Amino acid sequence: MEKRVQELHRLLHQYNYEYHVLDNPSVPDAEYDKLLHELIAIEDKHPEFKTADSPTVRVGAEPLSKFDKVNHDTPMLSLGNAFNEEDLNAFDTRVRNEVGDVEYMVELKIDGLAVSLKYVEGKFVQGLTRGDGTTGENITENLRTIYAIPLSINEPLTFEVRGEAYMPKKSFIALNKKREANGEQLAANPRNAAAGSLRQLDSRLAAKRKLDIFLYSVNDLRELNATRQSDALDRLDELGFKTNHERKLCKNMQEVLDYIRLWTEKRNDLAYDIDGIVIKVNDLAKQDELGFTAKSPKWAIAYKFPAEEVITTLKDIELSIGRTGVVTPTAILEPVSVAGTTVGRASLHNEDLIHEKDIRIGDSVVIRKAGEIIPEVVRVVLERRPEDTEVYHMPEVCPSCGHELVRIEGEVALRCINPKCDAKLVEGVIHFVSRTAMNIDGLGERIVQSLYQEEIINDVADIYNLKREQLLPLERMGEKKVDKLLSAIEASKSNSLERLLFGLGIRHLGAKACQILAQEYHTMEKLKVVTIDELTAIDDIGHKMAQSLVTYMQNEDIIKLIDKLEASGVNMSYNGQKKEDIKVHPVFGNKTIVLTGKLSIMSRSDATKALTNLGAKVTSSVTKKTDLLIAGEDAGSKLSKAESLGIEVWNESMMIKHLSNES
Ligand code: IVH
Repeated sequence: MEKRVQELHRLLHQYNYEYHVLDNPSVPDAEYDKLLHELIAIEDKHPEFKTADSPTVRVGAEPLSKFDKVNHDTPMLSLGNAFNEEDLNAFDTRVRNEVGDVEYMVELKIDGLAVSLKYVEGKFVQGLTRGDGTTGENITENLRTIYAIPLSINEPLTFEVRGEAYMPKKSFIALNKKREANGEQLAANPRNAAAGSLRQLDSRLAAKRKLDIFLYSVNDLRELNATRQSDALDRLDELGFKTNHERKLCKNMQEVLDYIRLWTEKRNDLAYDIDGIVIKVNDLAKQDELGFTAKSPKWAIAYKFPAEEVITTLKDIELSIGRTGVVTPTAILEPVSVAGTTVGRASLHNEDLIHEKDIRIGDSVVIRKAGEIIPEVVRVVLERRPEDTEVYHMPEVCPSCGHELVRIEGEVALRCINPKCDAKLVEGVIHFVSRTAMNIDGLGERIVQSLYQEEIINDVADIYNLKREQLLPLERMGEKKVDKLLSAIEASKSNSLERLLFGLGIRHLGAKACQILAQEYHTMEKLKVVTIDELTAIDDIGHKMAQSLVTYMQNEDIIKLIDKLEASGVNMSYNGQKKEDIKVHPVFGNKTIVLTGKLSIMSRSDATKALTNLGAKVTSSVTKKTDLLIAGEDAGSKLSKAESLGIEVWNESMMIKHLSNES
């Protein structure tokens, strides 16, 4: 019996390898199934023969209650991005300056999920997700169901292999067909579907999803006696792993660019999604010499394909009025799926842009997501323009209050300058209560609008006179919500001056300028009488800001509003640190720092504040003067620019670690 079990293992592993790794089966599927069922039957009767590397584990195991978190032996980093030839050349120049002439291994960038597979003495023992790069989730059971992952290999190696698990287009289409038939929600794209499958606690369900994998690196490549990335990949092939064979060794950037061009055209023919091309220095000694930033290797870069473009119809142009009276046109689109989400609206920014692109209601327009996130209208498809379209003109009067709209010299925006315009005032209140300003939770757009309509509030100071009885009758405002809101309003009274200053929405004064002003002047009384000369003498306060503040404080209505706020008990002075108390922080002090990407632990404004409090200067664009870039999730062009300039890059947790080491 034991002999037969061994024989079945050997045959099933071999057939499996031929089918899933080599894509070259030597027996019909029915033969494989017959042997597999024979083995299942034996294991059912004699559980002692069931091993972790038995081919029967491919069908999944009992569901787990949760995934364990496991630390990676070495962090799973990500790659810096390049979006164009210029970025790639900058990378190449930096590499050559540092280590001289190089060859590049170029590989397809598979659009799936990074996973790490641990082998101990040749047996697959643990598979992890990337997680936050330091800690991943133990998804071993789910990974075992991927046929292309060898459960054991021919050499007794102890090492970690990394690669990309993905859902082939065919499996994705089949999955969505089934979901559609069952009336279930469709998966947005193969990547999301793969992620969902790997996060299944029931591996028997994951097994049905038909995922696949390409392996592309080994934790310690020297374990494989490889001195080049190309050798390492060949060794992985030899050991029975599935690697991607479209890779190419390039002697120079020209060959890399040719490869990119080729795959930009051919990517749709592949059986799986790719989202770019990965370029790696082939020589491992040179890789070592180049080293890493906190987030990514300096010896590799990912070229990202340009954003997907789709065509849809422009149904209407909607206008909205902002807090400063600017009227912004928004395209209302026939909903269309772009890069994984459905898009129905896109900002058109201003009238000039509409005319430049000659965008008309009824047109077919090309849509894409800028930076893969924000939808934009790229251009009109003129060949498809219906006959009866008209050139679009913005209205002459405010769509909310009917006051004449003006175009201020030198600006592209149209503005409603009526200080009593309802739409403007509502937006002003929404800004006043926002997180960075007075931070009053519970006053959303809908409530503010009803409060205005009912004439319960006419300005921001009225918020402080709101009564329970006025709030309770409003739609969807229960007792609890009202109590919470009232205590948030009460708490906001003791906010430090910079929040109030920012909340007032003085033109040209952002959160940072307000922080500087509050720190410098301490009280609203003093700010009421500052002069332009005094203000412009302060670092980081420019003429426009100074002019705007002085004009603002000369307005009688404004002074009345400030007095009304003060009479309601709103604090008018600075509670924060005094300028002279700020010690120079050993890490962040006097550093110029840029934040980019999505931060997941701290909000962008809290991070800015914390860094500023420690004496850093937080700026918005990456230049040669930047000392440090903090890159969150999905960081884009700023990250690639920082990398091409050789600027230090940290991830969010690194920043938080240093912020908490206050000294
Ligand atoms: S090499 C240090 N090669 O792209 C990271 N990555 O940020 C080395 N990816 O999370 C990665 N195909 O999951 C490499 N051929 C390939 C890849 C690849 C896809 C993914 C990987 C990583 C992301 C880059």
